[in-house]
Amino acid sequence: MKKFFFSFAVLLASAGLSAQTVTELPAPDLNRQTLTVMETLQNRKSVRAYSDQELTLQDISDLLWAAQGKNREDGRMTSPTARNRQEIRLYVFTKDGVSLYNHDNHTLVSVTGGDHRGLIAGPQAFAKTAPVCLLMVADFEKYGSESDHAKMMVYCDAGIVSENINIFCASAGFCTVPRGIMNNKGLIELLGLSDKQVPVLNNPVGLGNN
Ligand SMILES: Cc1cc2nc3c(=O)[nH]c(=O)nc-3n(C[C@H](O)[C@H](O)[C@H](O)COP(=O)(O)O)c2cc1C
Repeated sequence: MKKFFFSFAVLLASAGLSAQTVTELPAPDLNRQTLTVMETLQNRKSVRAYSDQELTLQDISDLLWAAQGKNREDGRMTSPTARNRQEIRLYVFTKDGVSLYNHDNHTLVSVTGGDHRGLIAGPQAFAKTAPVCLLMVADFEKYGSESDHAKMMVYCDAGIVSENINIFCASAGFCTVPRGIMNNKGLIELLGLSDKQVPVLNNPVGLGNN
């Protein structure tokens, strides 16, 4: 069986395609030790320096679920979206590669290997020192409109995902900052985004370095 998958991967590679790896995330820990809402809000702030300590897979699971995980049987999420269009794509950048979060089944789908956090950082080098960088990409194809009103709604939706990340981090002891600065052109190329898929915001996430 192993041999079959290897041959299949070689076949795909020779056709210029790559096999996607799907990583099942552990279930979100709903009993995780966190601050109260009021303590969290008191604690929330932008932090621009991180230790190089890696997040565990459980941390990443909880972080992504807080950002826009499925929290109801009908597929609705921890973050609301206008008309429930669920049009914000959430990418995860680490030193090992880039993955796309699938909230439907709480998995990570590999997009590409290698350390591309520099594209998230752009001119702000501190951001590439975070062990995890999350990127919110607005998918106007999925939203179904590019009118001025649609743009306002979609960019609000991206901001809400970012704020869920801010709140989770402040509550669970991680550091982050919402960022609009990044290498948009480089990210569009790397991720193969269409002209209807727009990088909007990113959040580097790590532990504090003091
Ligand atoms: C939409 C948005 C975009 C931002 N973009 C950046 C950015 O590109 N780089 C950065 O260092 N901080 C960025 N920030 C963080 C703000 O500078 C920060 O929130 C502000 O100074 C207030 O500080 P506080 O978050 O600690 O309250 C952004 C914040 C928001 C809400």
